[in-house]
Amino acid sequence: MANSSRAPGRSRRLRTALVVSAAVGLLATAGAVVLPGSASAASTLGASAAERGRYFGTAVAVSRLNDSAYTTILNREFNQVTAENEMKIDALQPNQGQFNYGNGDRLVQHARSQGMLVRGHTLAWHAQQPGWMQNMSGTTLRNAMLNHVTQVATHYRGQIEWWDVVNEAFADGSSGARRDSNLQRTGNDWIEAAFRAARQADPNADLCYNDYNIDNWNDAKTQAVYRMVQDFKNRGVPIDCVGLQSHFTGGSNYPSNYRTTLSSFAALGVDVHITELDIRNAPSDAYRNVVNDCLAVARCKGITVWGIRDSDSWRSSESPLLFNSSGQKKPAYDAVLTALNNGTTPPTGNPTTPPPTGNPTTPPPSSGCTATVTPGQVWGDRYNTSVTVSGASTWSVVVAITAPQKVSSTWSGSFSWDGSGNIMTVRSNGSGNTFGFTTMMNGNSSARPQIRSCTAG
Ligand code: G3I
Repeated sequence: MANSSRAPGRSRRLRTALVVSAAVGLLATAGAVVLPGSASAASTLGASAAERGRYFGTAVAVSRLNDSAYTTILNREFNQVTAENEMKIDALQPNQGQFNYGNGDRLVQHARSQGMLVRGHTLAWHAQQPGWMQNMSGTTLRNAMLNHVTQVATHYRGQIEWWDVVNEAFADGSSGARRDSNLQRTGNDWIEAAFRAARQADPNADLCYNDYNIDNWNDAKTQAVYRMVQDFKNRGVPIDCVGLQSHFTGGSNYPSNYRTTLSSFAALGVDVHITELDIRNAPSDAYRNVVNDCLAVARCKGITVWGIRDSDSWRSSESPLLFNSSGQKKPAYDAVLTALNNGTTPPTGNPTTPPPTGNPTTPPPSSGCTATVTPGQVWGDRYNTSVTVSGASTWSVVVAITAPQKVSSTWSGSFSWDGSGNIMTVRSNGSGNTFGFTTMMNGNSSARPQIRSCTAG
């Protein structure tokens, strides 16, 4: 089965880390006592969600990163981002074979500097195809789609926590059928082919199917997606998660059976994510219900709102977001934060885990190269580390992480882990001699990574 060949899960470890860690680190920093199940009053959406083992994110328009009012809210409130448009097919491969990663990379860079998780959106979709792809069909299109999946997932390997591998592949209405599209006409197996290519290109990213109007458990579209996920799990097609876009605006409203939908998908053995939440006129009740429903389902890993201020929304006339166009918090913001803060804090990790043994004064063994650690930014629950290698242009560096700390994201190297998940081998991957990573403290705020060896070649 494809799933069984998966590398030790960076993202799976991250999710575990988020569940048990962020609150612990934040509260430890603040000098608070953390008891399993206790609630605390975090003052931002991301911090509160992290205390409940979730993320709270937003879609980001990269052009708005120049707007300081926008980035102030982004950096303060959110710990996860999705590119609103910049990682779509037309943005990344405007001409066949010519990839334009500039804006996507800029978002990843911003996220990394802020310790935010990144959702990739989206590898295969009937919409937002560049002109050259729209005009393709059959095997030519299938191969072009698979090449796009492979190239993009490879480019972002190690940077993306979750990929929306396939977006919006089912029809609306009562048919329960696949949506007609050029991709669908290449054969019904195009979705699983995309998932297999994505897994091969980035074994550590979690792979999601993402759609809208799959919120109401009774809808034919919801049932059809459910059956596809069930079939994929039964046949070993590598799928890890389902994204419910949850645009409760215009066409559909928050359904009272939403929690049933979340828990039913989760019962198939996949995580569930609320990926594009916005609600017409931002009623506090509906926002509160969505948060409570997510918190009630252990495999609901987080919520992403589709924009920050109403003026940033794709449906700005419906004022569907948590901040008004002036950047002020709306009543729905307070409802969401209160619901998050009232949620149950998951059990913490093992705070008595002893520090690593070994003599820190012994220099790490060097075989043709030297690895030098530079401490990076520190947050309440996590910190960044850079490592620069000198003496060789190709190398592998072994780094030990002290449990229960876990690496949550990585960059500029090829990363793999041993069975414990705490010994990390980083190989040069052509992106220079400095690699980096974010480590979740998981309650241990003092330990720092240790270089075990540096080997040239
Ligand atoms: O940037 C250009 C601008 O230069 C040009 O003048 C203008 C003229 O139309 O277009 C601008 O690009 C627009 C882009 O948004 C940025 O604003 C595109 O036309 C427009 O099609 C695009 O719409 C996006 C839409 O997806 C289509 O891809 C929305 O921003 C984005 O919020 C929306 O997001 C989708 C999710 O990906 C999938 N789920 C539904 C969701 C809402 O439709």
